[in-house]
Amino acid sequence: MRVLAVRRFPGPAWDELGDVEYLDGPLVERRPGVEVLATVVSVDAAMVDLLPDLKLVANYGVGYDGIDVAACQARGVAVTNTPGVLDAATADLTFALILAVRRRVVEGDRYVRAGKWGSGWAEPFLLGDEVSGATLGIVGLGRIGQAVARRARGFDMRFLYAQRHESGAAADLGAERREVDELLAEADIVTLHVPLTDETRELIDARRLGLLRDGACLVNTSRGGIVEEPALVAELVAGRIRAGLDVYAEEPDVPQELIELSNVVLTPHIGSATGKTREAMTRVLVDNILAFERGEDPPNRVA
Ligand code: 8YV
Repeated sequence: MRVLAVRRFPGPAWDELGDVEYLDGPLVERRPGVEVLATVVSVDAAMVDLLPDLKLVANYGVGYDGIDVAACQARGVAVTNTPGVLDAATADLTFALILAVRRRVVEGDRYVRAGKWGSGWAEPFLLGDEVSGATLGIVGLGRIGQAVARRARGFDMRFLYAQRHESGAAADLGAERREVDELLAEADIVTLHVPLTDETRELIDARRLGLLRDGACLVNTSRGGIVEEPALVAELVAGRIRAGLDVYAEEPDVPQELIELSNVVLTPHIGSATGKTREAMTRVLVDNILAFERGEDPPNRVA
C-alpha cells in the first residue's frame, strides 16, 4: 500500500514499511493513490477529501481528538492510535510537574541562576507544599491515570478518582470514587487524564475551577481543551492556585499571561517525549499499518 507520512517516525520499526512518501508541508493538493496516512497532526475533512484512495489514518499518539473521525468513517477510512506504550512516560512527566509545582523547583532553579542565593537562612525561603501524604485527585482512572496512582503510592498519598464508571482497578489502588465537583473541593493536587471528546471539552470550567481549594495544584498532561483555559489563566493570575501544564488549548500558543507567572510550570507537550517511548510508539503505529496491509483488523483500531 502507498503510505504517506507527515514525517519519519523514530526507531528501527519505521524501516519495515519500505518506501514511504513524505509530506513536506501542509497537504494542499490531491494525492490520488495514497492509501495510508501516518500522521501526528490534525486530519480534517478537507485532508480526507484530498486523499481519494485513503483507507487508513494511523495516528502517532494515543489521543486522536485532532482527527475528524466522523469524516473518516463517512468515507470508510479506518483510524488507529498508539495506546499503552506511553503510559509510563506520561505518568512520569505528571509526577515531575506535581513535584516541580509543589516544591517550587523551577523557581528555585531561576533563583540560583539569577545569583540571588546568599541572603542567609533567616527568611522563610521558597516554602512549598509536601507531596508526601497529600490528597491526589485523579480525573480519569484509565491506563495513564492508574500509572499516576501507582507512583502516588510511593509518596504515601491518599487518592480520589472521578470518572463516569466505577473503575475495576480502584480497589487495588486504594482510590476512592468521587463526583468531579467533590474531588476538586477535596484534593490538594488534581491531575487530568481523560481523552478530549465532546463530553469532556471544558469539563473543568470556570465554576469547577472555583471549587479548587486555595493553594491547590492542577496538573494537565492530557489535552488543553479539557480545561476552560481563560478561566484557568484568571485563577493563576489571581494567585489562588498553582498549576503544572504540558498541554494548551491552541498549541503551540501559550497564553501570554502565564509566561511571567511563578505559580505555574510550563512544558511543551512532552508527556511521551522519551527516546524509548517514542520508538515504542513507532512500533505500534507500524504494526497497525502492517496488519491493515495484510487485510487483518489492526490491533489499535479506534474507528
Ligand atoms: C503526541 C500525545 O502524540 O499520545 C498522545 O496523545 O499527545 C503525544 O504522545 C506526541 O507528542 C506526538 O509527537
